[in-house]
Amino acid sequence: MRALILAGGAGTRLRPITHTRAKQLVPVANKPILFYGLEAMAEAGIKEVGMIVGDTAVEVQAAVGDGSKWGLDVTYIPQAAPLGLAHCVLIARDFLGEDDFVMYLGDNLIRQGVKDFVDRFEVERRQFDPAAAHILLARVPDPHRFGVAELDDNGEVVQLVEKPADPKSNLALVGVYLFSRAIHAAVAAISPSDRGELEITDAIQWLVDHDQRVRSEILQGWWIDTGKLTPLLEANRLILETLERRIDGTIDAESRVEGRVVIEAGAVIEHSHIRGPAIIGAGTRIVHSFVGPFTAIDENCQILFSEVEHSVILARTRVDHAGRLEDSLLGRDVEVTRSTVLPRATRLMVGDDCQIDLT
Ligand code: TTP
Repeated sequence: MRALILAGGAGTRLRPITHTRAKQLVPVANKPILFYGLEAMAEAGIKEVGMIVGDTAVEVQAAVGDGSKWGLDVTYIPQAAPLGLAHCVLIARDFLGEDDFVMYLGDNLIRQGVKDFVDRFEVERRQFDPAAAHILLARVPDPHRFGVAELDDNGEVVQLVEKPADPKSNLALVGVYLFSRAIHAAVAAISPSDRGELEITDAIQWLVDHDQRVRSEILQGWWIDTGKLTPLLEANRLILETLERRIDGTIDAESRVEGRVVIEAGAVIEHSHIRGPAIIGAGTRIVHSFVGPFTAIDENCQILFSEVEHSVILARTRVDHAGRLEDSLLGRDVEVTRSTVLPRATRLMVGDDCQIDLT
């Protein structure tokens, strides 16, 4: 069993952050989203990982390296343009060979990991007349935004429709798929969709239309496609809720640190109040400030005379006399300042290297 992780794409829905960085490397609870996926592959016992990379290839390679940190062997597969999820399978043909594989969208987070899902597929593949693919589904309130599956009484896929106007079920395709080599004929046979992409839903539908069985499983824990701001903050909240309290930094006598909080070594908290769940990265200084629940502040930041809640702040960013920031995502090396403090909260989505004066 191999893995194909998709870490290319355009990331238009997470601009401006994605103008300067790979969306899969945006941190959630101070760890790049992609690393959770790599951990899930290692936990599932997979060794060989093909990683699809696009414009941000250099950054992804610098962060992931050869994969040995996770006990993985990562092969990079460049994609010239984001031509669709099925296009990723097409260009990974040599890497995948005849093996079964798990395809994983690099910007997705899945609470339960993928081990059980992979194990069940491997067991079934050894039985008589196995399914050609397994898909993972989640019940969602807004199926028209997703690829939606219609199933028969045995849980086998009858039809898949991408973003249907009139969904036949509330079962959305989650960003993890298990394929046998049968998928290669499917991705080679389909044509680009109206949006110009080779759609994985069309490839799976091709399997169904050619009398191949596609089984499905319904996900139990949470799953988040972090490709937009609100789900990214939600993923940050859910992961922070699982952290164990750990204080390795310095807290002065005038400060208060409550609840599930991680303060990394070298972080300094002075005259401040931190209310968890929250994480404060190494070398970060929090001075005369309040850091509220569901906030992740990365390394070497400065939060001075400000309040931050339910936000993700990337490395080396300075928030100084900024009043109250909520539901915000700030890139790296950002400066947010305000010379007159107003009593209202501000919501910001700021790319890397910006200076913002809120006055
Ligand atoms: P999407 O979120 O569907 O697409 P995108 O990254 O182009 O984002 P947006 O719609 O905001 O512009 O992609 C899911 C994952 O698959 C993500 O990690 C990017 C990756 N991907 C590729 O590697 N190659 C591709 O051709 C596509 C479409 C996506």
